[in-house]
Amino acid sequence: NMSSTDEEFVGAIDQGTTSSRFLIFNKHGEPIAIHQEEFAQIYPHPGWHEHDPEEIVTSVQNCIEGAVAAFKKDGRSVDNIKAVGITNQRETTVVWDVKTGKALYNAIVWTDTRTGHLVRELKARPGSDKLMEKCGLPLSTYPSVTKLLWLLKNEPAVKEAYEAGNLAFGTIDAWLIYKLNGWEKNVFVSDPTNASRTMFMDIHTMKYNEDLLDFFSYEFDLRKVHMPEIVRSSDTKCFGELAEGPLKGFKITGCLGDQSAALVGQKGFDEGSAKNTYGTGCFLLYNVGKKPVISTHGLLATVAYDFDGTPVYALEGSIAVAGSGVKFLMNNMGFAHASEKISDLAESVEDNGGLVFVTAFSGLFAPYWIDDAQGTMFGITQHTQRGHIARATLEAVCYQTKAILDAMAKDSGKSLTELKVDGGMSNSQLCMQTQADLVGIPIIRPQMRETTALGAAIAAGFAVDVWKDFDELREVNTKGQTAFEPQMEGERSKKMFKKWERAVDMCRGWNADI
Ligand code: G3P
Repeated sequence: NMSSTDEEFVGAIDQGTTSSRFLIFNKHGEPIAIHQEEFAQIYPHPGWHEHDPEEIVTSVQNCIEGAVAAFKKDGRSVDNIKAVGITNQRETTVVWDVKTGKALYNAIVWTDTRTGHLVRELKARPGSDKLMEKCGLPLSTYPSVTKLLWLLKNEPAVKEAYEAGNLAFGTIDAWLIYKLNGWEKNVFVSDPTNASRTMFMDIHTMKYNEDLLDFFSYEFDLRKVHMPEIVRSSDTKCFGELAEGPLKGFKITGCLGDQSAALVGQKGFDEGSAKNTYGTGCFLLYNVGKKPVISTHGLLATVAYDFDGTPVYALEGSIAVAGSGVKFLMNNMGFAHASEKISDLAESVEDNGGLVFVTAFSGLFAPYWIDDAQGTMFGITQHTQRGHIARATLEAVCYQTKAILDAMAKDSGKSLTELKVDGGMSNSQLCMQTQADLVGIPIIRPQMRETTALGAAIAAGFAVDVWKDFDELREVNTKGQTAFEPQMEGERSKKMFKKWERAVDMCRGWNADI
């Protein structure tokens, strides 16, 4: 006999880089129903990576249908779903025509490096050294801005819409909210965790920044491009409602970029707490409280969440390749058909056999920011087996995480005492043990690892009082966590890391013009 509020549920759309999902959580943060769908990864040229924006919307709609059907099958009523939250891959750039609501080009994905040249040009412009203190991000191919500039320059349809004053730009959150509401309604908003990844938002004020817009408007006047209004991450009015499907008329009341959502889902509400999410890429967020910390050691200043007008900030270490490295071994190299098998393969060898794989498929992100690095393996011998390559692929993420934690200690003056983890690659015992060995602190893995979606549900649930404060979430998702304690002898892990750093150094300039 459950009390009536036990019967409250919240839905969460999780639109990631390689798949979309819809989950329905109960008040205890347990996923009751889930549906997932993959969609096409488009790689037209080396370094290019695109998604079809319409397919992304359809995949989300299919997921809602699938999960709601499963939910109802269990005899539950959709009326108990109180709200829907959205979380999404960040930076990925969509452009559309406000007169038709139709996308004008494929979405350019965050991993895409086609704008490397543009980034070099921009770095040479006066004022480029002032951007970071305003937006928190270093100039690189990663944020949305150069993707938008590239589209304006290279796609006639985009330029035409711009000249006619009809061009809209948005990240995936804005695009989804716009489309799921029915585009004619023109619900055009983004939350600060997403907007802060464009390079247009002032991280101190959560508003578009005139200097930033000026800096990037040397060829096209970016004020002529329609951009979403920046609103809080949790709100009952701004995000509108679903226009179609089994949850037609249900309100969207939360929106968070996926990495911020994972921090929320791990309940990283206290200053000093941190999480590392091993998804397509891997992203470490460290809660720094109510003031942004502008990094001097290669990290990003980002917004953790803004639920009530008092934003909370994070220092972020972004790694471009994690699960995508595993996918590469499966899809491109034919190593195995399931990601667990890659971990098994890595476990079939005793150690990496001297092999280091710098998985720089998108250049190298934090804390290195080497745009012209490309994937490189060092230490190949006659002894090298597939197992070693699998192991080196997993280790690459662990090394970068170690480099990020070192940078964070320098930026914040504090060292972490434990690190919470989630995401697909955290399923690998070997990978998590290696991580603990390299960073020398316990790695804490929750049993329920849908933390990204849970974060979106929490943002949405807060707005409609399913949960009223952080205290109420204390018992959510605490069951059955695993701790990986460091076991490796310190000298050995130091040596491994030194080799990695040397390999990183040798990657520099590989993709530079010859
Ligand atoms: O910044 C990109 C990030 O938001 C993508 O996350 O989980 O798809 O690797 P994920």
